[in-house]
Amino acid sequence: MISRTGNVTLVGGGPGDPDLLTVAAVRALEAADVVLYDRLAPHETLTALAPRAELIDVGKRPGHHPIPQDEIERLLVAHARNGSAVVRLKGGDPFVFGRGGEEVEACRLAGIPVRVIPGVTSAISVPAAAGIPVTHRSMSRLFTVVSGHAPLSPGELEHLAGLGGTIVILMGIMNLPSITAGLARFGMDPQMPVAVVEQGYSARQRTTFGRLSTILTESARAGVGSPAVVVIGEVVRLARDGDAHAAAALADAAAATGP
Ligand SMILES: C[S@@+](CC[C@H](N)C(=O)[O-])C[C@H]1O[C@@H](n2cnc3c(N)ncnc32)[C@H](O)[C@@H]1O
Repeated sequence: MISRTGNVTLVGGGPGDPDLLTVAAVRALEAADVVLYDRLAPHETLTALAPRAELIDVGKRPGHHPIPQDEIERLLVAHARNGSAVVRLKGGDPFVFGRGGEEVEACRLAGIPVRVIPGVTSAISVPAAAGIPVTHRSMSRLFTVVSGHAPLSPGELEHLAGLGGTIVILMGIMNLPSITAGLARFGMDPQMPVAVVEQGYSARQRTTFGRLSTILTESARAGVGSPAVVVIGEVVRLARDGDAHAAAALADAAAATGP
């Protein structure tokens, strides 16, 4: 008897620009019968990228979950059991704050063949879009990626403040006040450069600069919103030349710290 079981491929869609899909991601989309996609995945061009596929929007907005996670997992399994090649298209990389691990586990438990195509994570690419390298030989030899979705504990803040290097926070806008206050409380230099990069790789990309002690005021002034990546560290000084805000922030920081 021929098995009619299909399969599931978790595909990292990168930070939103279809040019940042991998070749493997494009091939998986071309071959897909069904695509379940997220809000931050590159969905605007999906009809062209996945011409044969039924497209299902399971996108979540902050604080609003149109399709609960267990229902997404149920849909993946049900479509694969019908014999479909199912693509689960996620923003960035499926295994970076993307619940990819849970979806792989759900498929395995159901006996569905599942594979993962990694994607370009926003944790590295969105800072890069603003000209910020997360490491730099003379400034930062480690970077830490943190979810700011839930408040950080005092222990986590203390570790982060003492680690050095670059801190990259995803989903951190809501909790930015408690994060910046906690880092300062545990000894981080209030002059530490900070950047908030919104909507990376879109026409609406914007970077707001400040320091640990000023970024809340700057963010409020700019009306910063999600999705955004927060970068804390000396590397923020390297933000793209020609950006007026970056130039002002660099001059400001230099004046504050002296020669
Ligand atoms: C649920 S997490 C998923 C992260 C994703 N798996 C990754 O590897 O990039 C969503 C968060 O990623 C960040 N993010 C994703 N794409 C972004 C973009 N184009 N511009 C700014 N931030 C982005 C934001 O912090 C957003 O709240």
